[in-house]
Amino acid sequence: MTQPTREDRFSFGLWTVGWPARDPFGDATRPALDPVESVHRLAELGAWGVTFHDDDLVPFGSPAGERDRLIARFRTALDETGVVVPMMTTNLFTHPVFKDGAFTSNDRGVRRFALRKVLRNLDLAAELGASTYVFWGGREGAEVDAGKDIRAALDRYREGVDLLAAYVKEQGYGIRFAIEPKPNEPRGDILLPTLGHALAFIAELEHGDIVGVNPEVGHEQMAGLNYSAGIAQALWAGKLFHLDLNGQRGIKYDQDLIFGHGDLINAFSLVDLIEHGAPGPDGSTGPAYDGPRHFDYKPLRTEDATGVWASAAANMRTYLLLRERAAAFRADPEVAQALATSGVADLGRPTLNPGETVAELVADRSAFEDYDADKAGERGYGYARLGQLAVEHLMGAR
Ligand code: GCO
Ligand code: MN
Ligand code: MN
Repeated sequence: MTQPTREDRFSFGLWTVGWPARDPFGDATRPALDPVESVHRLAELGAWGVTFHDDDLVPFGSPAGERDRLIARFRTALDETGVVVPMMTTNLFTHPVFKDGAFTSNDRGVRRFALRKVLRNLDLAAELGASTYVFWGGREGAEVDAGKDIRAALDRYREGVDLLAAYVKEQGYGIRFAIEPKPNEPRGDILLPTLGHALAFIAELEHGDIVGVNPEVGHEQMAGLNYSAGIAQALWAGKLFHLDLNGQRGIKYDQDLIFGHGDLINAFSLVDLIEHGAPGPDGSTGPAYDGPRHFDYKPLRTEDATGVWASAAANMRTYLLLRERAAAFRADPEVAQALATSGVADLGRPTLNPGETVAELVADRSAFEDYDADKAGERGYGYARLGQLAVEHLMGAR
């Protein structure tokens, strides 16, 4: 089934299809899109949700009456289409006021302004029923090492996130936060550059219980990291609250390509993980992540309106094709046999016996004195065959 339905929970940022394709070297190549039109078009294509920054819907500095009007007509579009708002976020990067950061600007007035901007939008997020609020700190960083006290910046980052989380709890909004790491761009170096840094930061928060991560494919790959392996660690930590799907080809600027149009093999393992990564009681597999399948991509600058909607559809179709291919991979008896040869399930068995002590381990001669390490070192793990089976399923060759 490669026709998206609402059950697939596909969502798109308004800023994705709505990107007019202005880049550091050239002007916009497409007219701005009305968010109301985006909602209707996305609904027609089978998307379930739409996400946005405050300024995507209400331009920065709009008077209160204008803000109400824009929100009201957007709500009408949601009601007409049944499209939901699963996630919202704040633009803390476009306006010059944020050029040195928002929560971590060296200017205290900017930091207070940033908190107020988020607080106002959190109220709207609650009104629209969003359950996740994303924090992407693109301007929280530096180019000059001496210009930013990183430890103080992390203190201020923590102060900001904890204050906002406490507010959400007090108001009973039921919203959870998701921090989105990125190594660089627009700043030379960004705080919380990778998923691992973000998880370590969350562990230092007072209200870390409602804070998780929103890892983006391209951002981890810009740092040369394995996205699906990172997602597995976020799941292991119980912190995968949201994700940004797109494509990236290696360590370079943030490409925001269509999902799968970068490292397709890693996209396959990601879909396999989130769709089949939870072992069921009977040895079957199930989804390890049931949140939105959110696309944060940019339609290529070369595209006109037709290309914009074709690329939106392509994200969903690619995901569904990968889901189909991953299901075939999991159902293939040869794959089951290859997995067994590789001992993949054996890793799930604790290394010590139930209740076994260190003393008992030391007393176990078969574990060391009589263990034939040379023989064990001769074992082949069969990963080459397993990897090839995955590639063949991915290519539709099996
Ligand atoms: C980027 C980021 C953003 C965020 C968005 C939501 O590299 O530009 O991925 O698109 O996802 O700001 O917070
Ligand atoms: Mn990106
Ligand atoms: Mn993103």
